[in-house]
Amino acid sequence: MLVAPAAAAAAPGPAVPPTVVVSAHRGGAAYAPENTMVAYRNALRLGVDQYETDTQLTKDGKLVLIHDAALDRTTDGTGNVQDHTLAEVQACDAGYDWTPGQGVTQPDPALPHPLRGHGVRVPEARELFDLVRAQQPTGATTISIEIKDIPGEANFDATGTKVAAVLVPLIEASGLKARTIVQSFYPPALNVVKSMDSSIKTQLLTIGATTPYLTYGVVTTQDIISPSSTNPDLSATTVAAAHAAGKQVIPYTPDTATELTSVGAYGVDGEITNFPACLLQLEGRPVASRLIADEAAAAGSPDSRLCADRSAQLTAALPEAPYAVLLAVAGMLAVVVTTTVARRRRHSA
Ligand code: G3P
Ligand code: CA
Repeated sequence: MLVAPAAAAAAPGPAVPPTVVVSAHRGGAAYAPENTMVAYRNALRLGVDQYETDTQLTKDGKLVLIHDAALDRTTDGTGNVQDHTLAEVQACDAGYDWTPGQGVTQPDPALPHPLRGHGVRVPEARELFDLVRAQQPTGATTISIEIKDIPGEANFDATGTKVAAVLVPLIEASGLKARTIVQSFYPPALNVVKSMDSSIKTQLLTIGATTPYLTYGVVTTQDIISPSSTNPDLSATTVAAAHAAGKQVIPYTPDTATELTSVGAYGVDGEITNFPACLLQLEGRPVASRLIADEAAAAGSPDSRLCADRSAQLTAALPEAPYAVLLAVAGMLAVVVTTTVARRRRHSA
């Protein structure tokens, strides 16, 4: 009797399609101090597709890479960035509270801080552009740089013009304009960028429901919509609707393997994560044997875990940002006003 050969077992495919952009949130904050050149050099070494970062203006008008309006959480300094000169900001230790494997920095004196006192500083924005231009003069890697313009914060700029006035010329002079995206939670700031240079791609960050922001993004020609990965209506359906409107969807910040896999299954274009090597592995792409930055390894730091573990103290979910409600209301107001104005203009044309 002839016996049919056993069918070869189908090799399991990657959990996330390898085309999904791996965006290193704040440079991959689990593996190096967030928003520092230590983190961006490490992200480059790991082979990510995108360097995500945040900007603030110093008292003397320099654009620096730091998430918060204040120095306190991520450095040993205190007070608002806008009240300090670049020299004063750069005198602070930006590795002071970093703990490997923590995701974004949440200072905890009980945890190890292997880069404290090792000269890590807050970089100027141009340093990131210089790094990418020098190390990756061609290729598909991108910089996604956020204008932090948050209603209620000390440096809130209702017109959305102050950072754009410095950032847009920097992007235009960088030689990396086609590989740079400007993101913001504050829609007017993105509209200012588009009005200054319509060829610069913009990315609208959203809090709360995705659908109204998608409508807004379509009307105001934003290129990318970035909902929180926990948004209630983020689904394959909303992603498909965005794609039908010609928009990309790149959620922030899934960090566990489960989160990255389930968000990837919605058909998103990218994922912004503090654990970019976790996403690389889920995509079946090469993962370096060490995840933490060279500087941290040289300082004797233990390696980071590959992916977040929400059950562990180090990577507990962040509490909701205090500005979230205010921002959601301000964002929705901007959505309604701009959408209405655009509709009226279309009807009267
Ligand atoms: O760019 C997406 C993400 O960075 C937005 O949240 O607060 O980490 O800047 P946040
Ligand atoms: Ca950001």
